[in-house]
Amino acid sequence: MSLYCRNFSNLIAKRCFASSSKIPDLTKDRYPIQRGQYAELSDKDYAQFESILDKNRVLTGSDTQGHNIDWLRSVRGYSNVVLKPKTTEEVSEILKYCNSRKLAVCPQGGNTGLVGGSVPVFDEVVISLNSMNKIEYIDEYSGIVTCQAGAILENLESKVQEKGLCVPLDLGAKGSCHIGGNVSTNAGGLRLIRYGNLHGSVTGVEAVTATGQIMNLMSNFKKDNTGYHLKHLFIGSEGSLGIITRLSIQCPTASKAVNVSFLGLNSYDDVMNTFLMAKKELGEILSSVEMIDEVSLNCSNKVFNGQSPIDVFPFYMLIETSGSNQAHDEEKLNEFLRKAMESSLVIDGVTTNEPGKMRNIWLMRERIADSLINIEGYCFKYDISLPLTHFYEIVPATKERVGDLASFVCGYGHIGDSNLHLNVACKNFNQEIYKAIEPFVFEYTSKLKGSISAEHGIGFHKTKYLKYSKTPEAIAFMKQIKELMDPNGILNPYKVLPL
Ligand code: FAD
Ligand code: MLT
Ligand code: ZN
Repeated sequence: MSLYCRNFSNLIAKRCFASSSKIPDLTKDRYPIQRGQYAELSDKDYAQFESILDKNRVLTGSDTQGHNIDWLRSVRGYSNVVLKPKTTEEVSEILKYCNSRKLAVCPQGGNTGLVGGSVPVFDEVVISLNSMNKIEYIDEYSGIVTCQAGAILENLESKVQEKGLCVPLDLGAKGSCHIGGNVSTNAGGLRLIRYGNLHGSVTGVEAVTATGQIMNLMSNFKKDNTGYHLKHLFIGSEGSLGIITRLSIQCPTASKAVNVSFLGLNSYDDVMNTFLMAKKELGEILSSVEMIDEVSLNCSNKVFNGQSPIDVFPFYMLIETSGSNQAHDEEKLNEFLRKAMESSLVIDGVTTNEPGKMRNIWLMRERIADSLINIEGYCFKYDISLPLTHFYEIVPATKERVGDLASFVCGYGHIGDSNLHLNVACKNFNQEIYKAIEPFVFEYTSKLKGSISAEHGIGFHKTKYLKYSKTPEAIAFMKQIKELMDPNGILNPYKVLPL
């Protein structure tokens, strides 16, 4: 079999946004929030931006609309300016100026974020990284790749594949999200069980602080113990401490042998025990373990005309192996499946190494998010870490709590990383259902000592719930770090930290 690394064009994020006719309420009208004491844009400011960038990289009026609404259509700002720098120096000039004027800014990558962090809340200046998309250098010996932050994940994947490598991160939004956005959110995704999170893979970042200072923390080495590991402050801080402009990331060798199994199971307990068995039997070749409930799969297949390769079950699992020897991997996978079926954990399933068939199975999974926001009109999304012994209980508990207010409640996610995506679909956003779900979901998660954000971040939507996952001392320390790095509070205000 030829060198294969999963890479199929995925226009999920772009397509959905373009087809949407629903424009959400302005954030300031939907949520009780007051604009901070920031300056308002004047003609002088537009002129200054045009002197830093060319005129055509200063978007105003209707050109800003897509940058004001998030992918979920859950929040909407009313910024009248989007700046599109091409270099780190331009980002630095912009931030120096905004800081001196006390103009608030909102850094934006591919705008696929799911927590309302990527768009302005009021009239913040949007700094879009779209034009900073150069892939600068691929070192095929070390696997370290250097690029600008605005490189689209899927483009980066294609480039590194040419050198026999793969990006250690994969997610359904790959056709639109930026690697810089991924690093800023510490995105998890579908390969985390194999390669770990971005705190481990990103070897260096270059970031511009709120005052315009360029922090060169680039490194071409995995091993670099020279003082405080400052790069970690920018990884996962969602644009609240600086704008990432460049980064280096360690890309592993692409696997020669990939197999995908899609399994049907009768209960959540069977899912949990199948995962345990998969870890024991498949060991180092295990590269993804996903769980999907019946409602989630139905929704994906209904909206996208997908076809499940097996019959209907209450639960499904998608298990992927990636290794270097097809015969060896198949032998292990077959042995695992034999044991799982003999012990009646798995009732039915298919296994394939054909790229087209693997792609179709992955698409059923990756399209769930998109199908959920299109099927009814609105979707409340929760992205939580929970102990596996209680992982799925919150789905029926939420269903019972919301009753008829919701069209349906479903759960799926990265069970291999204890990360559940709980979703509540309804016709439109309304206060009654919102109050029924929040803070219920976060209280429930906290009681189980889970995390209220496994991978999507805090953004705008979860700031007041941070306390369910962090102590008062930790939040106070975060606020001190924010004040030190952004004394005027201009970077992505109203996000991450509670007000
Ligand atoms: P944006 O959405 O533009 O921004 C996200 C946050 O990062 C914002 O706070 C923004 O201010 C900040 N930011 C962006 N770029 C920079 C920068 N260069 N410097 C500083 N701050 C910046 N997420 C997962 O973790 N796992 C998944 O499996 C997953 N699957 C998804 C599937 C779909 C279909 C969709 C729509 C989203 C999915 N997401 C997933 C969420 C989202 O794609 C990720 O959070 C992604 O990392 C966001 O990247 P982005 O470039 O779109 O950033
Ligand atoms: C996923 O795993 O599909 C994403 O994180 C998006 C979602 O939560 O729906
Ligand atoms: Zn996810």
